[in-house]
Amino acid sequence: MESIVGLVITIQLQCDVVSNTEIALDIFDMTLDAPEIARVAHAGQFLHIFNDSPDMLLPRPISICAIDAESGRLRVVFRAKGAGTRLISRKTRLRALGPLGNGYDTSSMSKKILIVGGGLGVPPLLELSRRVAEPQVFLGFRDEASMILQNDFTEAETATDDGSFGFCGNAVDLARRKARDFDLIVACGPKPLLRAVAGFADEKGVPALVSVEERMACGIGACVGCVIKTKSGYRKVCVDGPVFRADEVVWDD
Ligand SMILES: Cc1cc2nc3c(=O)[nH]c(=O)nc-3n(C[C@H](O)[C@H](O)[C@H](O)COP(=O)(O)OP(=O)(O)OC[C@H]3O[C@@H](n4cnc5c(N)ncnc54)[C@H](O)[C@@H]3O)c2cc1C
Ligand code: FES
Repeated sequence: MESIVGLVITIQLQCDVVSNTEIALDIFDMTLDAPEIARVAHAGQFLHIFNDSPDMLLPRPISICAIDAESGRLRVVFRAKGAGTRLISRKTRLRALGPLGNGYDTSSMSKKILIVGGGLGVPPLLELSRRVAEPQVFLGFRDEASMILQNDFTEAETATDDGSFGFCGNAVDLARRKARDFDLIVACGPKPLLRAVAGFADEKGVPALVSVEERMACGIGACVGCVIKTKSGYRKVCVDGPVFRADEVVWDD
């Protein structure tokens, strides 16, 4: 059974940055000391991270990449894309709100899972891959220099758009060629990749769960700034998602 879990516990914390490494150009792998959030977080959820700059009030949504409930630590991997994430990448202590959004209910998930990630869509899939048995993992990147986390997965096949490493093409093309038997696809990445995953799932007659990104303000369902169109009407990515069934999403707007 494909499965999404909704959670209502949300905590705001001042967290120490335990480590922070630039793992590719402008991509930071940051570990936060956030015990109260780590204790209740699920794979697939995200944090709202504040930079506490007076001229930049809105937090930035960043997915939880890995959860260590025992040590109370959370890992996030993000691109310093604009001013907000650049400021966050330089912090040694920061304010985080979370865990936010639904996530994957791994306790009731199917046994044969195909994981497909593209670019900065790869980090949120790492925790999921650790919580399910023997997933087949297919990751795609623009080129070899953009590759991240592929060695953190127990086993992953890699594709690059320019063929500089692994299969030449995207992660869905690679999965199409190499995936064995599976009964659920879980994907995160840019919208064209997610749309391709939805098509692949449809071809195979299996369900797919996709993690969708939208610009966000409040992150808690209050501002209606993050809606996407679904077959059952407009839904808020921050509270109804970010994980949706691919066949529920209206892809062509
Ligand atoms: C649920 C969710 C999870 C995410 N997880 C990650 C992750 O794990 N790693 C990662 O690198 N990025 C992730 N992103 C994207 C990340 O939030 C944006 O790159 C970031 O907000 C950009 O902010 P900025 O100030 O640096 O850039 P700017 O482009 O200067 O941002 C200006 C404004 O646009 C918003 N914005 C711009 N791009 C995005 C975007 N793609 N999504 C949402 N808001 C955006 C910002 O929040 C800000 O309000 C995620 C987005 C969402 C919605
Ligand atoms: S960001 Fe405000 S409702 Fe989603």
